[in-house]
Amino acid sequence: MDDPTVYLNGTFLPLSQAKVSVLDRGFLFGDGIYEVLFYHRGKPIAAADHIARLKHSLNEVGIAYPDVDLLAISNELIAKQQLSDAKVYWQITRGAEAVRYHVPKPDTKPTIFIMAEYEKPVDIDAGPAAVKAITLPDLRWHRCDIKSLLLLPNCMAKMQAKQAGCAEAILHRDGVVTEGTSTSLLIVKDGKLVTHPANHWILGGITRLNLIAIAKEHDIDVCEATFTVEDMMAADEVMLGGTTTLVAGVTHVDNTPINDGQVGPITRQLFQWYFA
Ligand SMILES: Cc1ncc(COP(=O)(O)O)c(C=O)c1O
Repeated sequence: MDDPTVYLNGTFLPLSQAKVSVLDRGFLFGDGIYEVLFYHRGKPIAAADHIARLKHSLNEVGIAYPDVDLLAISNELIAKQQLSDAKVYWQITRGAEAVRYHVPKPDTKPTIFIMAEYEKPVDIDAGPAAVKAITLPDLRWHRCDIKSLLLLPNCMAKMQAKQAGCAEAILHRDGVVTEGTSTSLLIVKDGKLVTHPANHWILGGITRLNLIAIAKEHDIDVCEATFTVEDMMAADEVMLGGTTTLVAGVTHVDNTPINDGQVGPITRQLFQWYFA
């Protein structure tokens, strides 16, 4: 659709007509929070988890949870565009003010923006994508648990990955792997699924959360612990999890194959269970 309907501050309107003030704090300071949901066959995946994370992020930065039904609006956008597989973007900034000043006024009205975008239908039979990645130092702040609009370090790292012909940059702090620029990172070693603990150094990924739950349901040992780049290179499998990435197998990191350089069996299995 050339000019899809989007939602902005209580109104459904064409994307081309959706405008916000240049004094919006999201624009000036990155003062806002976002979420991305995946709709599969017209239905949102793990909507309650996304709402819970949005509440956490808004609460941490002191923006009130909006008094609108974000999911109902999203469903309406999906219906209006007749989408089946799609991603839905929610953005809530602290809002626009009369002057640019670091400290916001307490009564500033948040800006709420929602859009739905077409995604190629997931081919479940094809299994997880095989991707290559590079490693880079994690240059982000200390509150990565907040899904804020401050994505410049993520964008810079992802651009470097693209330049290197890779799909993702795997970030590390002094050699400790945190996550990808827009994905959670999980490894498999000796049958055990290992991923960084959900603390302030990573975004608590919803896909990560669900993969952990699914793995446990199928009696796969899960360990939420830190591991190094070296551990990752020696892993049996490395995978990425994310709302739009879904589950992808990392076959090469920094041009070096992981194990035999193929998507591993547990990655394949988790992908299938995720859609079961
Ligand atoms: C930094 C980061 N980590 C992990 C993820 C994956 O989280 P989710 O599975 O909730 O999409 C994202 C998603 O955008 C992300 O930006």
